[in-house]
Amino acid sequence: MYPIDLSGKVAAVFGVANDRSIAWSVARMLHEAGAKLALSYQNDRLKDRVAKLADTLEGDTLLVECDVSQDASIDSAFASIGDQLGRLDYLVHSIAFANREDLGGDFSGTGREGFRVALEISAFSLIPLVRGAAGLMSEEGGSVVAMTFQASERVFPGYNIMGTAKAALENEVRQLAAEYGNRNIRVNAISAGPLETLAARGIQGFLDMKKTHAERAPLGRNITHDEVAKTALFLCSDMASGITGSIVPVDAGYHIMAV
Ligand SMILES: NC(=O)c1ccc[n+]([C@@H]2O[C@H](COP(=O)([O-])OP(=O)(O)OC[C@H]3O[C@@H](n4cnc5c(N)ncnc54)[C@H](O)[C@@H]3O)[C@@H](O)[C@H]2O)c1
Repeated sequence: MYPIDLSGKVAAVFGVANDRSIAWSVARMLHEAGAKLALSYQNDRLKDRVAKLADTLEGDTLLVECDVSQDASIDSAFASIGDQLGRLDYLVHSIAFANREDLGGDFSGTGREGFRVALEISAFSLIPLVRGAAGLMSEEGGSVVAMTFQASERVFPGYNIMGTAKAALENEVRQLAAEYGNRNIRVNAISAGPLETLAARGIQGFLDMKKTHAERAPLGRNITHDEVAKTALFLCSDMASGITGSIVPVDAGYHIMAV
């Protein structure tokens, strides 16, 4: 337990697929700090697994299905959060997807449909989720945390279209932060180092990239899921009340190295 108290607060965490999901680590950390949770999963196929994870948490956790490729699904997710929990203080966006063939090989081979899918699911989705969450936030405001990766600015072979999607996502973080600042809604992203998850497994050469990160990072190691979750907890909390529109690297310092 860290000395941050989120009791009385409500968090919606989008993107739990399994116990390796970054979203799950963040959800547990926010729950441990006292926040009430809504956990969102993509589709029926994931429901049982996410329900089993939710059962490991004390108290009631609201489970909501949300496929971000469907406006109606997003609307009904927030309607259900509003009905059941009455308010929202924090939104965690931990969602990304690209077709497997677009996560390897030549970037120039990216097709129109692959581009659309990756950008729509991984970047566009932040906009309606923030809009939906903001509709449930009180005059006190709230905090939004998204997940990004340094491929937004540098070339990581294999990451391909997801680099483009992360560049768009980070730009959205800044534009949304500017727009919602007058409601005291802060919008930030964590730029995490490589972590072995379902999404990461789809990236060609991921394990080599992870090894290189550990070798070159100033801290001489990879990061942990917990380190991302702790930063998300900080960004949600009042400790980060002056921080918005920022991309916070949690990468053992890898981003400062030239080689
Ligand atoms: N794992 C890493 O190394 C790493 C590093 C930096 C950033 N990230 C980012 O962290 C976030 C979470 O990824 P993860 O690594 O925990 O993998 P993950 O596979 O556990 O999470 C990705 C989530 O996206 C969800 N998703 C995909 N399509 C969706 C749709 N149409 N509607 C709703 N949800 C959908 C999946 O169901 C899954 O829960 C992503 O934004 C990812 O890019 C991951």
